[in-house]
Amino acid sequence: MKHILDLDDFSIEEVNLIVKTAFEIKKKPEKFSDSMKGKILATIFFEPSTRTQFSFQTAMYKLGGHTIGFSNSLNSSVSKGENFKDTVKVVSSYADILVIRHFLEGSSFAASLFSSCPVFNAGDGAHLHPTQTITDVFTILEKKKELNNLKIGICGDLKFGRAVNSLIKFLIRYEKITFYLISNENFKLSESLKEKILNSGNSFKEASSLEDVIEKLDVLYMTRIQKERFKDKGNVEKDLILLNEKVLKYAKEDLIVLHPLPRTDEISIKVDEDKRAKYFTQALNGVFVRMALILETFKLNNINKKEYFEEKLNLSCHNETCITKYERYLPKLYKKQGENILCGYCDNVIK
Ligand code: NCD
Repeated sequence: MKHILDLDDFSIEEVNLIVKTAFEIKKKPEKFSDSMKGKILATIFFEPSTRTQFSFQTAMYKLGGHTIGFSNSLNSSVSKGENFKDTVKVVSSYADILVIRHFLEGSSFAASLFSSCPVFNAGDGAHLHPTQTITDVFTILEKKKELNNLKIGICGDLKFGRAVNSLIKFLIRYEKITFYLISNENFKLSESLKEKILNSGNSFKEASSLEDVIEKLDVLYMTRIQKERFKDKGNVEKDLILLNEKVLKYAKEDLIVLHPLPRTDEISIKVDEDKRAKYFTQALNGVFVRMALILETFKLNNINKKEYFEEKLNLSCHNETCITKYERYLPKLYKKQGENILCGYCDNVIK
């Protein structure tokens, strides 16, 4: 089975195939209206969602299939104390695809151990959001034609944003990309991801204000402060970096402004009228991309490349929001990265 957990498990060719199919679908969606006839997609969402959930459901309907699921686990037997494994085992036995969003890192990978159908990661805590990344990449390609040589600003919460983490991890597979990392001190990109950017031969520059860098950018990826992911909310409003019409005046004419949405206060509503604002197109593209993902997932190479190993190392993950901290029956799985041993679920460095 080909799960969609982390785009590192996919070759560039496989991602290109999905993107190409998404472009074909966008041109003529009705051509695909019977492709998933009789199939069922389950969405089990343990965290709120508008776009991801509804675009997956819309995608399945447009392909002629059906959907089941819950958007609030309190309406399922989770509220009676059912463990994650049993929920996944049972729902996956009813469905052909299981789409899962969860507040804990590594939850989709954990689900893939027990699911009898392909699992799509629709966001696991602050970790990854691969289907959002393909949507972002599709929208960049639609407007810019290529991913190499991009000057891309990523602004807002670079610490807890899974859409940011996923997007950077994917883009570093291309060349001559300069990342402009625009954030306040409390929301900076992790050192490990900065190191990955440099190891890939791409580069980054850090900034704390949009005015300083906006004139250089081809793409500006705005993000919301992920308030739900940290305890000390303090006065996060002071950390807000705002995109408004005044700041946008300094940008190139062909800049595109993206945002995975939901927006809170980081983009002023006035910016919506600017032709460079592409975040609503991006949200719509999520439907075509997810239609392509549903279609292609059955054709892709069966083996997930994620290589993990199981050993009696007796090491536990230190990440307090890793699924292994809550679902204690999960097997201890690790991955190797150079000299380091990573948690097989959330990729946190254990040793
Ligand atoms: C993002 C998410 O859930 O990570 N939204 C989305 O899926 N479109 C970003 C966010 O919530 O800020």
